[in-house]
Amino acid sequence: AVRARADALIAQMTPEEKAGQITQYFDFTDSPDEARRVTDEMAAGRAGSLLFVHDPAELNRLQHIAVEKTRLKIPLLFGFDVIHGLRTIMPVPIAVAASWDPKVAEDGQAVAAAEARAAGLHWAFAPMVDIARDPRWGRIVEGAGEDPYLGSAMAAAQVRGFQGAYIGSAGRIIAGPKHFAGYGASIGGRDYDEVNLSDSELWNVYLKPFKAAVDAGAGNIMSAYMGVNGVPATGNRWLLTDVLRKTWGFKGFVVTDAGAAFDLKTHGFAASTEDAGVRALSAGVDMEMAPPFGQSAFKTLPQSLAAGRITTAQLDDAVRHVLEAKIRMGLFEKPYVDLKQAARVLADPAHREVARVAAERSAVLLRNEGATLPLSRSALKSVAVIGPLADSARDTVGPWVFDQDDKETVTVLAGIKAELGSGVKVSYSPGVTLPARVNKSIFQSDEQFAAGKAQNVDDTPELARAVALAKDADVAVLVLGEGQIMIGENASRSSLDLPGRQQELLDAVIATGKPVVVLLMSARPLDLKGAKPAALMDIWYPGTRGGTAVANLLFGKVSPGGKLPYSWPRDIGQLPLPYAHLTTHQPKTVEERYWNEPSTPLYPFGYGLSYSTFAFSNLRLDKTRVARGEAVPVSVEVRNTGSRKADEVAQLYIHQRYGTAARPVRELKGFERVTLEPGQTRTVHFTLRPEDLSYWAASTRSFVQDASTFDVYVGDSSAAALSASFEVAG
Ligand code: IFM
Repeated sequence: AVRARADALIAQMTPEEKAGQITQYFDFTDSPDEARRVTDEMAAGRAGSLLFVHDPAELNRLQHIAVEKTRLKIPLLFGFDVIHGLRTIMPVPIAVAASWDPKVAEDGQAVAAAEARAAGLHWAFAPMVDIARDPRWGRIVEGAGEDPYLGSAMAAAQVRGFQGAYIGSAGRIIAGPKHFAGYGASIGGRDYDEVNLSDSELWNVYLKPFKAAVDAGAGNIMSAYMGVNGVPATGNRWLLTDVLRKTWGFKGFVVTDAGAAFDLKTHGFAASTEDAGVRALSAGVDMEMAPPFGQSAFKTLPQSLAAGRITTAQLDDAVRHVLEAKIRMGLFEKPYVDLKQAARVLADPAHREVARVAAERSAVLLRNEGATLPLSRSALKSVAVIGPLADSARDTVGPWVFDQDDKETVTVLAGIKAELGSGVKVSYSPGVTLPARVNKSIFQSDEQFAAGKAQNVDDTPELARAVALAKDADVAVLVLGEGQIMIGENASRSSLDLPGRQQELLDAVIATGKPVVVLLMSARPLDLKGAKPAALMDIWYPGTRGGTAVANLLFGKVSPGGKLPYSWPRDIGQLPLPYAHLTTHQPKTVEERYWNEPSTPLYPFGYGLSYSTFAFSNLRLDKTRVARGEAVPVSVEVRNTGSRKADEVAQLYIHQRYGTAARPVRELKGFERVTLEPGQTRTVHFTLRPEDLSYWAASTRSFVQDASTFDVYVGDSSAAALSASFEVAG
């Protein structure tokens, strides 16, 4: 019925209306010329979708033009970057991955979907499921880190959160996993740069989360900017048609990244704008996200149709995919939103609670000498809260937010003050300022860039004041890291050092001899140059209720239980440093590959402490010899050996000893986060499925399951020691 409805509309459409239906425009209401141009296209029925509008009244106004003024009255589909929340901001996606709890991801995106849908949006350009193995790349903040298994679990959970049980579920929106595929491998971590991936890495690592997202029913996929094997992803028929539609059976619609169809010309791939449109459509793109203020390649499709360069069937297929999404979302029946209802949903206190829990479950405790944390409220008379990120509402919510309310964001300073009340003195100094960007971003106007530079001030007096406050306090809590503009799209860094004079501040505060707790606000591993604060916790960009969550963690209302979703290098020269590397020549010297330092990470993938201790024992395999295609049940006992209720993440890794291809030293194949009372033991069960023991082999150009010996490792990180082995018989 959905298809028949779409086809009935297609039968009435002109080529211009079809091309418009598969074009998405930026709506810049602050640019009158652009707004007029987009409105004209809409009124003529030559725009199918808009992005970047998120005000409910404005969305209704625009929808009114499409539904009331155009010939065929086809409603607009509104898409937006709802990456980690609309009004209620969850911790950034890499933080949510660090929870190792897919429910946190699903619940968070369900809240984001509820707010977006109530506001009049229909589709999120999320989740970003690109694997990132180089933390210089700024977009690492939006994904789930370096591992395809964790990444797949988080990808599927987010799709479920956004969409619910089916596309068009009440209070849900379409999920658009991006950027298909391989964008995270940009060389040097430089955003938008070239990618060089082997087919094996592509299939076994980078495509995995996309497959999981498609299997979870994602209604949209966004094509990437960069190329695979020299063919830009947006013009890559192998990726968009052979893999996505034919092999995986994707049924939704494919949108380009902003301007990526037009960019086929920029890449030196398409000969002209017309050629770019033809090649994107022919590759399998259904909708062009047109560049801001720029030219549309799909606008030229009618002339390419007339010239015989594309067929009506090709154009109709793309239009059908887009119309089917609109029909499934119920837009023809209910194109508008109720403004009062929107206001209620956006203010829902239950949503803020979801954000608090997510921030608590995301924090990763990296160091805790002498059980410095949790701090005892009753033993404290004064706390010095120090650092440029301690009281910045804008940084607390992180990048990729547009509709947050800074006034209701709880910063770390505000969270600590609220927790301690009037009984404990809380002093505060930013200590230092964060430096401005060196190169102007495409997202900055000249004025914004200049204003940032003008903010560079002499930090010396404030740094001295901060150190004095630390001297006067029982404990110093430092909130250090990167401002949110230092990470995200077009925000890579060539250094993992603390920006500005934060290292100097940290060293000076440690030198006071007071206990120092460092809270890192960042989304990439940072190099503290050997500084050893008593406690170190990664709080990421923790979102709307970040400060409340951090206070609950600091004072022991909850125990941290997150685990790193990436390997944390000793210094930047080691990058990239994925734990799942191949054995290669001289495996015994793998820790000595550098002359000057160990080649191991400072903290391994999957690492994180809690306020308790845990022991793993009784690793059991139900079978030690199985046939190909058989599952291997695995169990392990986890015991809380400490004196506090806390969480542990049981992690299962495998290693295939030999086969059609050499396989990584370890690969994550199972995990479960458990909460245990002191002294409590839980048996955690895993199942190694045949697909967990299979991989894509270049020699057969297909997935294979080898007869081989497999090692199994289970424990609290990728360095887990407990092991057993089993055979897959030939
Ligand atoms: O959704 C984003 C994408 O991830 C990067 N380029 C711009 C798009 C729209 O904002």
